[in-house]
Amino acid sequence: MRDATLPTVLVTRRVPQPVLDRIAAVADMRLWEEDRPIPREVLLDWVRGCAGLYSLLTDRVDEEVLRAAGPSLKVVSNMAVGYDNIDVPACTAHGVPVGNTPGVLTETTADLTLALLLATARRIVEAAEFVKAGRWVTWRPMELTGQDVHGSTVGIIGMGRIGKAVARRLRGFDCQIIYTDTQPDPEAGALGAGYVELDSLLKASDFVLVHCPLNEQTRGLIGARELALMKPTAVLINTARGPIVDQEALLDALQRGVIGGAGLDVTDPEPIPPDHPLLKLDNVVVLPHIGSASVATRTRMAHMAADNLIAGLRGERLPHCVNPEVYG
Ligand code: GLV
Repeated sequence: MRDATLPTVLVTRRVPQPVLDRIAAVADMRLWEEDRPIPREVLLDWVRGCAGLYSLLTDRVDEEVLRAAGPSLKVVSNMAVGYDNIDVPACTAHGVPVGNTPGVLTETTADLTLALLLATARRIVEAAEFVKAGRWVTWRPMELTGQDVHGSTVGIIGMGRIGKAVARRLRGFDCQIIYTDTQPDPEAGALGAGYVELDSLLKASDFVLVHCPLNEQTRGLIGARELALMKPTAVLINTARGPIVDQEALLDALQRGVIGGAGLDVTDPEPIPPDHPLLKLDNVVVLPHIGSASVATRTRMAHMAADNLIAGLRGERLPHCVNPEVYG
């Protein structure tokens, strides 16, 4: 039974039940039950008159959505640390605070980055498939040989929370760590990481790791020119956002041997079409955007997004707000 005294919220995907229960206790919840992104026309219809929108990174939240929601909208809460799917200036212009889930997924995403780095460098996926295909005939001196991560030079693009967590792990591998960002980070020195310009980082690194957010400055940051600066053996790892790398330029660079390999947890678009030529290359490992995908972390993210949503419904300041300027 609908309780007309409660604010209406739209939750665009099933999240763990305890999180849904918390939301249902304070709101009249419209839940998109299907395990695929809510179709645009349904989003625009169901958001009408809502006070809260609990979104995923697969939902585009823009002016059209804000207009469809109307003046009742008090909060947009994205269950992700990244918020490139949200037109934040438009939300601010409508007086709507936007919440995200920083911090909680840092270590889990750093773990995955190391897993992908090692998998790509040491050809783990290819080797496992080799065994399953019955091709393991004998031990051969140079079979499936990859590249050492220990002792290598690793370049980190974006020394934020995740970049630093990765740098901390790489110290255990005796890597030389260099990084670039919009400006030097005062904490990076303590991690043994030296600041360089992007071009120098690309030229010097054995492994280039992308950890910056996607925005208008970083869209297409790694294109044909940047790939050409990298060593022919270098490996590019992206666990941030697909459009930071020009995927067609990357494909071309891999096919022509301009760089040595790539490990991608994010693609452009997502999902990558299963017949995409990148998936045919042995020196490429592609994962389905699982950086934060541990049970504990995804559960905590879902709760954190509920915290933001509920605070917004109550007219309180969001615990994690990406546009604090909305509060004047
Ligand atoms: C995942 O990519 C996130 O931004 O949380």
